[in-house]
Amino acid sequence: MSVYGNHPGTRPRRLRTTPAMRRMVSEHRLHPAELILPAFVRDGISEPVPVSSMPGVVQHTRDTLRKAAAEAVEAGVGGIMLFGLPEEAEKDGTGSAGTDPDGILQRAIRDVRSEVGDDLVVMSDLCLDEFTDHGHCGVLDDRGRVDNDATLERYAEMARVQADAGVHTVGPSGMMDGQVRVVREALDGAGHQDVSILAYTAKYASAFFGPFREAVNSSLSGDRKTYQQDPANARESLRELALDLAEGADMVMVKPALPYLDVLRRVADTVDVPIGAYQVSGEYAMIEAAAANGWLERERVIEESLTGAKRAGASVILTYWATEVALRLSRGE
Ligand code: PBG
Repeated sequence: MSVYGNHPGTRPRRLRTTPAMRRMVSEHRLHPAELILPAFVRDGISEPVPVSSMPGVVQHTRDTLRKAAAEAVEAGVGGIMLFGLPEEAEKDGTGSAGTDPDGILQRAIRDVRSEVGDDLVVMSDLCLDEFTDHGHCGVLDDRGRVDNDATLERYAEMARVQADAGVHTVGPSGMMDGQVRVVREALDGAGHQDVSILAYTAKYASAFFGPFREAVNSSLSGDRKTYQQDPANARESLRELALDLAEGADMVMVKPALPYLDVLRRVADTVDVPIGAYQVSGEYAMIEAAAANGWLERERVIEESLTGAKRAGASVILTYWATEVALRLSRGE
């Protein structure tokens, strides 16, 4: 029996009677500062290129990326996560464009920092998949398998060049074992003690990343199942979490969000560092597509999906709707 007994006067609906009452007793409230905008910037284009499977999302030119960053600041968004897309001809086996101090991602970091200064937390994806001709997140061994330790050396280099370019936070997303430790050591060794690490801690081999592959012109033909987690596993996330924290992660992340809210909750119950949830491309595409058909109320569903992540324990949320939602929130809608 509940602590309330069976008293006929116990009526939860009393706290739902008016908008003011519901607002007052609301347990979770979204805030612009906890939203992070993922953004794509592509080398060698003069106009932004729309991503067809993500209506409203584009591959930015360096100029339009600056504008998007300025708009994010204006809306009160908390951070921006940058993904760089090199020219096709620059892709190679080791993803060398990813560590070129003058590569697209490094230039974009400098552009955005010069635009927003410290008004936005500037973050960068620390992974090789946008830069390799095979599309994997690491380098391959002579049998075509992703070589964990050889990849770590590439990540260390990548961390240094991104930090030199002025990034506030790096986001190692390749799911290599030991990546957080190697990135931390590389940053510290180069005098970048203040650059923080948002670790992609529980990242699943998810089909919800589908539209992202178009967004980054991915060259991948196989899958990432030897490094990203099996969607069937939840407990394993706690193992990944323990390792990332021991290796020096400042923030941890669960990705995707919606199909993994249970994992988010478990992680939230375990740690005392900020937790990110990444509402990924497929989650965005599903809602936009259904809304375009008139099957879902777009804005309410967007808000509900973000509130769900928050209720499950997210402290920050990466979402392609970050600026739009932040604007609505700051207008009090
Ligand atoms: C890897 C990376 C991916 C995403 C973010 N970082 C793709 C992947 O792991 O296949 C997916 C994000 C999304 O789907 O929105 N660099």
